[in-house]
Amino acid sequence: MSATEPDTRVKLHKPRGRLEWLEEPDGFSVCTTHRDAYEIVIRSAARHELDEYVERLTAEIGSGEIVLISDELVAGHWLEEALSSLERTRLRVSALTIARGERSKSIETLAGLWDRLLEIGVSRRAIIIAYGGGIICDLAGFLAATYMRGVPYINVPTSLLAQIDGAIGGKVAVDHPQGKNLLGSFYHPRLVLIDPEFLTTLEHRPLVAGLAEAVKVSLLASAPLFERISAWVGQGLPLGEPTAAESIITESVAIKLALLQQDPFELGDLDRLLNLGHEIAHSLEAVTSYERYLHGEAVAVGLAVTARLAAQEGVCAPAVSTTIVDLLRAADLPISVPPELVSAVWAHLDVIRNIRNGALRVVMPIDIGHCTIVHDISEPQYRDAAR
Ligand SMILES: NC(=O)c1ccc[n+]([C@@H]2O[C@H](COP(=O)([O-])OP(=O)(O)OC[C@H]3O[C@@H](n4cnc5c(N)ncnc54)[C@H](O)[C@@H]3O)[C@@H](O)[C@H]2O)c1
Ligand SMILES: [Zn+2]
Repeated sequence: MSATEPDTRVKLHKPRGRLEWLEEPDGFSVCTTHRDAYEIVIRSAARHELDEYVERLTAEIGSGEIVLISDELVAGHWLEEALSSLERTRLRVSALTIARGERSKSIETLAGLWDRLLEIGVSRRAIIIAYGGGIICDLAGFLAATYMRGVPYINVPTSLLAQIDGAIGGKVAVDHPQGKNLLGSFYHPRLVLIDPEFLTTLEHRPLVAGLAEAVKVSLLASAPLFERISAWVGQGLPLGEPTAAESIITESVAIKLALLQQDPFELGDLDRLLNLGHEIAHSLEAVTSYERYLHGEAVAVGLAVTARLAAQEGVCAPAVSTTIVDLLRAADLPISVPPELVSAVWAHLDVIRNIRNGALRVVMPIDIGHCTIVHDISEPQYRDAAR
């Protein structure tokens, strides 16, 4: 934070939780509440100030050491910088690197990390830093939630998907052979540090996959964001001037927070607007064993199919649907369910309970910036829109 900027940090009140109880005729009734408060910093070059943010947190919690978790690819590009910043804190820093890819988001990798932390003698007063994409944020967040019943952690998301989505909201998880994210919890970080300059080393494929999530939130809430994304895509996604990426990230995060506010623990999960594009995406990912599509690519297919469905059903104007599909195409994202998978995707939508009495329930755009939930899509209607 520069000297000229106002300090908008939330002051934490201690203690961070409350416990109240009443005597009852047959025992007690107990009510506990836990308060999480944290900053999300979004600024180019913010990574160089990691040490300052860590020092602020350590002063608050009396912490003495850092465990940084990264994957091999991110570490190759960015670990040296992280370590040279953290060196200034004079705290003990252990950097642990795991293999990249969704296979690492497993209970086995998590158990390996538990073992390593115990071997090194990491205490309850350590801070874990998740330094990588969405996989690292989910895995290191779950590690933080479980190690010694919970240690504080910081998310430093390095992929676009993690910067606008995975690092925000406190969902932490690992996958189970039976499905993605089946084991996990809600456990919020103590800080999210987003530096758009990380994106300069991200390959094109994960970059545009992350962009699909930004398109999703723009369709839910912001036509200006949609315009900004279109302009960025039209310019060939320049990362040299991080302002475009920075403003897209900031606005996407703001929309995600506003939508999460309505249901922060996802108690009404299935009907949430945030599912836009995700009904079909989850099904497509599952029927291709999570190997053929990056998550954001599957989301792009889901967005394109629901846009075509919306036009077909008269929920949105045909021009709206065309504009959405054209943007996804221009970003090199897939926009159709491959013909050989159309039936399997419908069948799996049933398995994941998006179909009731033969009718599919999907979130779809009314216009750019406004969506609704439609409950009565038939299989032939879906088939027309899928390709
Ligand atoms: N918790 C949530 O709310 C939430 C939301 C969305 C997604 N997710 C999870 O996030 C995961 C997907 O996230 P992702 O797409 O970031 O995957 P990822 O973590 O695998 O990152 C994608 C690839 O990019 C590489 N990478 C990341 N940052 C880089 C950089 N700056 N330079 C070069 N390479 C870089 C990674 O090594 C990886 O190979 C999934 O497991 C998904 O379930 C979680
Ligand atoms: Zn998603």
